[in-house]
Amino acid sequence: MRKPMIAGNWKLHKTIGEALDLATVIKKETDTIEDIDIVIAPVFTSLAKVAEQLVGSNIGLSGQNCYPAASGAFTGEVSPALLRDAGCRYCIVGHSERRQLFGESDSFINEKVQALLAAGLGVIFCIGETLEEREDERMYEVLAAQVRDGLRDITAEQMAQVVVAYEPVWAIGTGKTATDQQAEEAHAFVRGLLRGFYTEEVADATRILYGGSVKPDNVDGLMAQMDVDGALVGGASLKAEDFLRIIRFRRSPSLED
Ligand code: 13P
Repeated sequence: MRKPMIAGNWKLHKTIGEALDLATVIKKETDTIEDIDIVIAPVFTSLAKVAEQLVGSNIGLSGQNCYPAASGAFTGEVSPALLRDAGCRYCIVGHSERRQLFGESDSFINEKVQALLAAGLGVIFCIGETLEEREDERMYEVLAAQVRDGLRDITAEQMAQVVVAYEPVWAIGTGKTATDQQAEEAHAFVRGLLRGFYTEEVADATRILYGGSVKPDNVDGLMAQMDVDGALVGGASLKAEDFLRIIRFRRSPSLED
């Protein structure tokens, strides 16, 4: 059984004080939860403070982005080692907002994945098709290229530190969630890709999160799908009540081992 992961991507929201308030509530309300990996990804400026606040909890801290160099003349960038220094265990890479708004390519994302793994951080590797790609029936081709090129040269052993997040671009921030079936189809396809690029074991062990308008009222159905191992939550992770409800998704009896 893959351990579920519920991750909150706070994007460009919250001051340090607001981030501390939210992290405090999540920590307090989840301190007995051990069978789910809970991750939060605040903005860079809040990371170190939130890390202090999370001491003694099981909540993993994540960066939202990084630059694939240890140090140097890269104005405005943050390295994997500095994320670790700030208390992070993970970093999100390849988010569609970075691909679309900042022109990040699969090969640049691959450099980041490699740099993060080399620095000992876990990777939340995002992929997903646009509406146009889906309507043109290019979705599978796009996902295959994103996985192949984004994970190029990542070994089967390193895959133990990689979580894949399927986030259809048309579902992000739109309130239009993929249906349970659409999510399962895409996740099963991605797991098949991992089987092809790696091994059956890697495919079985790798967690694939769904992201795109995950809310308290749709999380149970999504999490009941065989190949949906968790959620990467944007908007609903900014409100303690909603995020906590998502963390407490109802497990489908058929998926219990
Ligand atoms: P929303 O949950 O706001 O749609 O955002 C999803 C997302 O992009 C998480 O990374």
